[in-house]
Amino acid sequence: MKQNRILEILTKSTEYVSGQALAQQLGVSRQAVWKEIKSLRERGYEIESVTNRGYRLTAMPDYLNAPAVKAALKTKIIGCELTVLDSVGSTNDFLKMRGNDGCKSGAVVAAREQVKGKGRLGRVWQSKKDENLAFSFLLRPRIAPNEVACVTPLAGLAVCKALRSFTGLDCKIKWPNDVIVGRKKLSGILTEMSAEFDAVEYIITGIGINVDQAVFPEEIAYKATSLLLESGRHYDKNKLLACLLNQLEEEFIKNNLELSPEALSEYSELCATVGKNVTFTRGSRRVSGMAVGVAENGELKIMLSDGSVCYVNSGEVTAQGIY
Ligand code: BTN
Repeated sequence: MKQNRILEILTKSTEYVSGQALAQQLGVSRQAVWKEIKSLRERGYEIESVTNRGYRLTAMPDYLNAPAVKAALKTKIIGCELTVLDSVGSTNDFLKMRGNDGCKSGAVVAAREQVKGKGRLGRVWQSKKDENLAFSFLLRPRIAPNEVACVTPLAGLAVCKALRSFTGLDCKIKWPNDVIVGRKKLSGILTEMSAEFDAVEYIITGIGINVDQAVFPEEIAYKATSLLLESGRHYDKNKLLACLLNQLEEEFIKNNLELSPEALSEYSELCATVGKNVTFTRGSRRVSGMAVGVAENGELKIMLSDGSVCYVNSGEVTAQGIY
């Protein structure tokens, strides 16, 4: 799209770029460039124009937009293809179509609004326009399907660390990968994959973060929170998304997509579930015990009242004191 190309050129340049230079690079007339600039201004981009010098981008809109995210992105892989949509059903589903069409490993899709957002266990994930962050990234790792289990806790660790450093809030992880503040949920992660019997084709990790949402539906109000509610501040969603992608890439590369000893120790330190009494479903029974740690495959280690230890890898675990 011509407007994206113009933004790319203007964000890379600190000087004015002449209409003639833009027209040449885009292969269109100066008149056509002017029309695109006018439309960009209408979309909230502030573009200065000075006779005999050209155009200069002076401010980006504060809603989620690809050029502003790219300007703060330091990654090599995650975000190599970055799409920001005004509205989408689910960023995970949209990226699945891209994945089937052969998009690159590291492709990211984010949206200002999700109208059919999906949560874990078939739940709905709401993301109203310009209130929250909803994004997904696709990786094509050379691993077997049973090795994918580490990706979600690693993503949870990255999101928790990014939110702590970006906002200063005391964020923690609720096993396996919710990020919480106090007793309430700030962020959720949904990983899906396409695989053959012994090889992963791609994995898609979708992340939702409550940023500016001030009111939650009654049924989740007791367990949901947002950056705004916790800090009383509005955060720049473009910089926040870039910070999250930077941290995700750092964590994934540093730990080679595994819960390395270092990642495991950081994860355990930030995990609010460890050290708590937990209840979970085993077959048709509800079982209680104490969460005592996290295994290197991401499973939660639970000590039961008879002193035996068991490992839980999915489903719902309820930790005392957290939703
Ligand atoms: C959960 O905690 O239940 C997981 C929530 C995951 C929500 C994100 S928002 C971006 C991506 N697209 C979706 O449809 N879901 C994930």
